[in-house]
Amino acid sequence: MSLFPQLRLRRLRRTETLRRMFRESGFTVDDLICPLFVVSGHNVKKEIEYMPGTFHLSVDMLLREAEEINKLGIPALLLFGLPETKDEFGSAAYASDGIVQRAVRELKRALPELVVITDVCLCQYTSHGHCGVVEDGRVDNDKTLALIAKTALSHAEAGADIVAPSDMMDGRVAAIRDALEGGDLKDTIIMSYAAKYASAFYGPFRDAAESAPLFGDRRSYQMDPANVVEALREVELDIAEGADVIMVKPALSYLDVISEVSESFDHPLAAYSVSGEYSMIKAAAQKGWLDEKQTVFELLTSIKRAGADLIITYHAKDAANWLKSV
Ligand code: PBG
Repeated sequence: MSLFPQLRLRRLRRTETLRRMFRESGFTVDDLICPLFVVSGHNVKKEIEYMPGTFHLSVDMLLREAEEINKLGIPALLLFGLPETKDEFGSAAYASDGIVQRAVRELKRALPELVVITDVCLCQYTSHGHCGVVEDGRVDNDKTLALIAKTALSHAEAGADIVAPSDMMDGRVAAIRDALEGGDLKDTIIMSYAAKYASAFYGPFRDAAESAPLFGDRRSYQMDPANVVEALREVELDIAEGADVIMVKPALSYLDVISEVSESFDHPLAAYSVSGEYSMIKAAAQKGWLDEKQTVFELLTSIKRAGADLIITYHAKDAANWLKSV
């Protein structure tokens, strides 16, 4: 084996063109999914304080944003709804004229080729802010399943291409698949938040989605950040129940989980680079402490290097624009 000075690894890094030739991983616009928050009303475009550059959008403004996203070549958006009313059972989540259902219908009418993914959960819709039905201070898994399935079915009926359950109840993928079959919606894709951790990185999102739990936390249903073997079991189970695409969330602190899941399973894998990851970079960039573009490129590249096929990121539009200029 030849060693230095015959062997010099720096030879392959000498110029930008050489670096491009020998680059092992990277992302393209096709890998990006852009999350959006839809609210009721008209002509609403209100910036979310903790997530500068993201907005609460009424359906009319959402359509404009979606047009831009589509023009940039981003293939998909992920929709979160903020309902007008909340109740104990999150009934606005599965109302056929609910905010997400209305938004999906309009989006599919205006931009049929743009893939619409909906987040399926109850936490934005329940008065207590938990992701399921609360009984005696606990989230009841089995009572929640029917409501989650109903929500997913109503999104699919409105035209959602992909439903993405994020509640972390056991058995929800099977319940959704059954409901979709029952509704003759065989082609609706299920992207399950399979390994979703109880993470402090969701902080800015809970403010944006008004979905912080009123009491307790989500640690009895979302995963313990210390666990990776359990993530593989979660993924295995969701695949067995009929998930088409699986997800790991968050991304930045969980690159090892992304890597293990991608080594162990052949299903397409999405990673969700969550609100806290976005807000950290935004805040530091605003202070001039980080170079935003370079940091975002490094973040998204590392998620692909770890093994993700798709990246859900609030930087999607910026990244798509920057990709055009490199
Ligand atoms: C709903 C949901 C959450 C996120 C996505 N879907 C919040 C939570 O579980 O508390 C977080 C997204 C983000 O932080 O960007 N259950």
